[in-house]
Amino acid sequence: MVKLLTSVYFAKRLYSGTTGKVQAQKYVLTKYFQGEPKKTDFTIVEETLPDLKDGEVLAEAEYLSVDPYMRAYMIGYKLPTDMIGGQVAKIIASRNSKYEVGKYLTGSFGWRTHTVLNPDVANEKAGLLPVTLLPDFGSHPVSLALGILGMPGNTAYFGLKEICKPNPGETIVITGAAGAVGSHVGQIGKLLGCRVVGFAGTDDKCEYLEKELGFDRAYNYKTVDIRAALKDGCPKRVDCYFDNVGGEISSTIINYMNKYGRVAVCGSISSYNETKLPKVSILQPAIVLKELKIEGFLVNRWTDRWNEGIEANLKWLEEGKLKYQEKIYHGFDNMVDALVGILRGENTGKAVVKVK
Ligand SMILES: NC(=O)c1ccc[n+]([C@@H]2O[C@H](COP(=O)([O-])OP(=O)(O)OC[C@H]3O[C@@H](n4cnc5c(N)ncnc54)[C@H](OP(=O)(O)O)[C@@H]3O)[C@@H](O)[C@H]2O)c1
Repeated sequence: MVKLLTSVYFAKRLYSGTTGKVQAQKYVLTKYFQGEPKKTDFTIVEETLPDLKDGEVLAEAEYLSVDPYMRAYMIGYKLPTDMIGGQVAKIIASRNSKYEVGKYLTGSFGWRTHTVLNPDVANEKAGLLPVTLLPDFGSHPVSLALGILGMPGNTAYFGLKEICKPNPGETIVITGAAGAVGSHVGQIGKLLGCRVVGFAGTDDKCEYLEKELGFDRAYNYKTVDIRAALKDGCPKRVDCYFDNVGGEISSTIINYMNKYGRVAVCGSISSYNETKLPKVSILQPAIVLKELKIEGFLVNRWTDRWNEGIEANLKWLEEGKLKYQEKIYHGFDNMVDALVGILRGENTGKAVVKVK
């Protein structure tokens, strides 16, 4: 009798929650972006999900991420294609004892409301960010798994530490400084004992960086002369440049670097909506004469060290050494507005969409 009850209990735990056919909604990209993304570039499609097989779970999205790479990468996909993106999803049915109902997963499931997957198999696919069972975030929202405790957090952590390799007392300059990655890079820079100078797109963002996050100086790149700002904010010039935006501002900063300076090229958001690539001032003389090291990177280079970054950032957060802001958009129907929002600079910190 006890044996029977035990097996009924485990069967319930393994495959509890929804058991009927589940209708998912997903965004399918049907037109390549021209300039800013538009709602008419997508069709929202309903999909009936299959029953769970052994090892699989059904996860319901709670937060979807909007990230600049979504604007940049879709040109590489054959249309029509499911929209890419990370999400935090609650497990609502499970046939995998490692992934219990009620726990949260994060992974690159795309712009969709429900997903059936085998997390173990998903993690064998090369190149994708790991599907992760969320650790206990304490009092912090699970949405942080898309921000400082997820991909952007690891981009800041590994990009700064492994590419820029800053030493205490050195000067780090960051563009896109008030965004998800930039605001985090600056705080780690301060924790490592560096002078940190940021460029962001509004005076309010600059005030937040200086007053809340402890940046030494922050400048509104839309209103200042960049070279004059560098002279003012970087009396010992620039040792490390964390480049989130590309374009002419990056050339100006790179030309203001010290010998053996290091540049982490993280992204080039200033060009993502452009149909013609911008022309910028030549960099080679500075690279040669100052013997600079300029290295691009993709955060999935550190997939095998993924948890190291998450744990380090969680520890700093718990110790009150890292702060964050989130810009929360509401509703699955508003994904495109949210994506356009980050490209227009509406966000301070990480932008996410709360599905319901
Ligand atoms: N290499 C990797 O693995 C990796 C991983 C994650 C992100 N990234 C890259 O890192 C960069 C930042 O990403 P994120 O997730 O932190 O985004 P984000 O900074 O949170 O959001 C984008 C921000 O970019 C700024 N921006 C928009 N147009 C701009 C322009 N023309 N010039 C300068 N700034 C502009 C806006 O802020 P303002 O108000 O300041 O203009 C906006 O808030 C992006 O280039 C992204 O592609 C790379």
